[in-house]
Amino acid sequence: MARWSVRIDPPWSLDAWRDAARLALRHAVPPEQLDWLHGEEASLLDAPPLQTIEAVADTAHDAPTYVSKAFVELAATCVCHRDPQRLPLLYRMLWRIAHGERGLLATPTDPDVLRATALSQAVRRDSHKMKAFVRFREVPGEQDAFIAWFEPDHLIVDRVAPFFARRFTGMRWAILTPSRSVRWDGHVLTFGPGRTQADAPTDDAREELWRTYYANIFNPARLNTRMMQQEMPAKYWKHLPEAALLPQLVRDAGDRVQEMHDREAQAPRRRIPQPASGLPVVAKAAPATLDTLRDAASACRRCPLWEPATQTVFGEGPADASIMLVGEQPGDSEDLSGHPFVGPAGQLLDRALRELGIERSALYMTNAVKHFRFERRGKRRIHSKPQITHVNACRPWLMGEIENVRPQVIVCLGATAATAVFGAGFNLMANHGRWHVLDDGTRAFATVHPSWVLRQTADAARDGAYQLLKGDLQQLVEVKRIR
Ligand code: URA
Repeated sequence: MARWSVRIDPPWSLDAWRDAARLALRHAVPPEQLDWLHGEEASLLDAPPLQTIEAVADTAHDAPTYVSKAFVELAATCVCHRDPQRLPLLYRMLWRIAHGERGLLATPTDPDVLRATALSQAVRRDSHKMKAFVRFREVPGEQDAFIAWFEPDHLIVDRVAPFFARRFTGMRWAILTPSRSVRWDGHVLTFGPGRTQADAPTDDAREELWRTYYANIFNPARLNTRMMQQEMPAKYWKHLPEAALLPQLVRDAGDRVQEMHDREAQAPRRRIPQPASGLPVVAKAAPATLDTLRDAASACRRCPLWEPATQTVFGEGPADASIMLVGEQPGDSEDLSGHPFVGPAGQLLDRALRELGIERSALYMTNAVKHFRFERRGKRRIHSKPQITHVNACRPWLMGEIENVRPQVIVCLGATAATAVFGAGFNLMANHGRWHVLDDGTRAFATVHPSWVLRQTADAARDGAYQLLKGDLQQLVEVKRIR
């Protein structure tokens, strides 16, 4: 009985596994006659390399084996698992599919399917953790260069690196792990051997920002240590700047909840929240500037919207603007460009401002939610309204912007922005254009969103909606720049 051996290089490569598996299948090598070798390991039975089979075997079946997309996806994740049995397992499954068990994956109780599914899930989970818990630290003495140290459970660096290239396109960065490293120079990803933690910087100025941010968003009343450990397993804590705070925050949680109850009992409920006192975050850290906020927000993961979005779209405009416009969330064009109000809604807004003689460049423009929420339909990304949880997750950034800019006037465009600034239950149509005074004295009103104007299908309705928007914005003409 002929025996063969095969070594996959690199051992997490789906292409390399597929080439070997195809070759073995073409020559009808049964799974039990193929040794899948790891690293430097030698074949115990001196089986010759599979690659030499063409020269020896005189029969080959040229009919290709087709497998489902689901199997390819399963294989693509499984190959990244560290389990040495994953490669023979995948080949055994391929063999079975090619030999009449085409519906194999539809049998979830099959031991091979069960095992492969478990391996695949472990790799997906590990990839998710890497995306969430990698923290870049500035390289001392170099400008805009960052290095992160991370210890994944599986062989996922190649799989996850393109995510970071998309997410941090404009930065130069490297991620070092014990078995592989990857570098991004702004154009290409370059992979290299594993490194040690000593090769990565340990601390940078941003750490303090992260710590302040985390301490402030930590809500003791919602403490659930079991969930916390599931979501942020202890093995990752040690590399997170904010992690040093956790033991103390957890210890103090009980007292802080009591304190919150006591405070709640004394304070009258306010319908209009006070932006300044709501500021829980980075703005309170030492350099409380829009730049530091923008920087910290670019890595925000307070809600899941960051993941499918291209980037955080932070507010823009003069840091001492008299007027702040708050929209709902970036749209497709804003998500791609990184700037607020540049798409169709922004252009309609520009037209209204122009007709009113208001300089857009004098305004600070931002959004209640800083990531684009969308649904995919084919190649298109369709806007999807953010939920209150997204608005709440983003509130610290908006409050930080308000605290820094200290505008005389805030204009909320649409119901989502109005909810973010005035609180839940604001009736836009009943109150549009009506002035309110926030607790810190800032004057504010809400009006319709330019996208709502664009959504009106009949010409007359669209024109009416536009006049309503413009009529409300007219009030800004009176706002004098006092700084
Ligand atoms: N709509 C918004 O609310 N904000 C933008 O930045 C773009 C469209």
